Amino acid sequence: MKGIILAGGAGSRLYPLTQVASKQLQPVYDKPMVYYPLSTLIEGGIQEFCLISTPHDLPRFQQLLGDGTRWGISIEYREQARPEGIAQAFRIAASFIGTDSVSLILGDNIFYGGDVFQRAFSSFTGGASIFGYHVTDPERYGVVEFDSSGRAISIEEKPARPRSNYAVPGLYLYDNEVVSIAAALKPSARRELEITDVNLEYLRRGSLRVHRLGRGFAWLDAGTSSSLHDASAYVQTIEKRQGIKVGCPEESAFRRGFLPLERLEALITTLPRCEYRDYLAGVVEEERRQQETR
Ligand code: G1P
Repeated sequence: MKGIILAGGAGSRLYPLTQVASKQLQPVYDKPMVYYPLSTLIEGGIQEFCLISTPHDLPRFQQLLGDGTRWGISIEYREQARPEGIAQAFRIAASFIGTDSVSLILGDNIFYGGDVFQRAFSSFTGGASIFGYHVTDPERYGVVEFDSSGRAISIEEKPARPRSNYAVPGLYLYDNEVVSIAAALKPSARRELEITDVNLEYLRRGSLRVHRLGRGFAWLDAGTSSSLHDASAYVQTIEKRQGIKVGCPEESAFRRGFLPLERLEALITTLPRCEYRDYLAGVVEEERRQQETR
């Protein structure tokens, strides 16, 4: 399965922060925002990535992430000239997807906790897999409704009167059919190719799976100054308490087996002296200790 990170948009709600750096490059506590969704997909087992952003912001992402080699992954880049909807990503990245299945994550979605995602990735056999997360303000999102047996029966994009409190977060897994489904989509009233319309098509075909993200799972929004601050505070709280980083692509790639220990060690020597480097050195040290006792 391949992975797309969609990091477009004007980020106007974060103005003036977004005057020179796009939303997904803003710091969430101790790392750029895009590190979090990137790590989420790496943890799901994705090794080949395509990052989509505006022509203006793309060079900054390339500068930050490079071609991924140093982390044992690959990253290609594609432009989204105009913000014409999430589902446009499948048109832009069609040649990257090829005949593969694909996961798409929004560059401003931060997830933490549990292993629901890993299980969803490893159990994916076709169709579409999306998620449902209980929120207080479902009208801001795609909203999924379940019947009494827990089966998804409707999805609506930003409904004025939501039929449930279950919002659909910005992580989606699709088989290769998504390429032709996206190609055939018509823009919505807000002139966007809606990801909800893609999901509705899978629902119509009877091949949509919705995994509910339960208690103890955090899906953080970082789209406003206040929620960005909250997300930073959340990550700081977890990291300080546990001494384990959230959204650290080097560590995720190492734990997933994409980046061998020796290469992680070599990578660390290229980093400036800082807390991030010390953390990764600690990861290596712990692994070495464990190897000795094995
Ligand atoms: C988009 C999707 C929506 C989804 C949300 C998750 O909303 O259209 O279905 O629930 O992302 O973050 P937008 O970014 O357009 O507000």
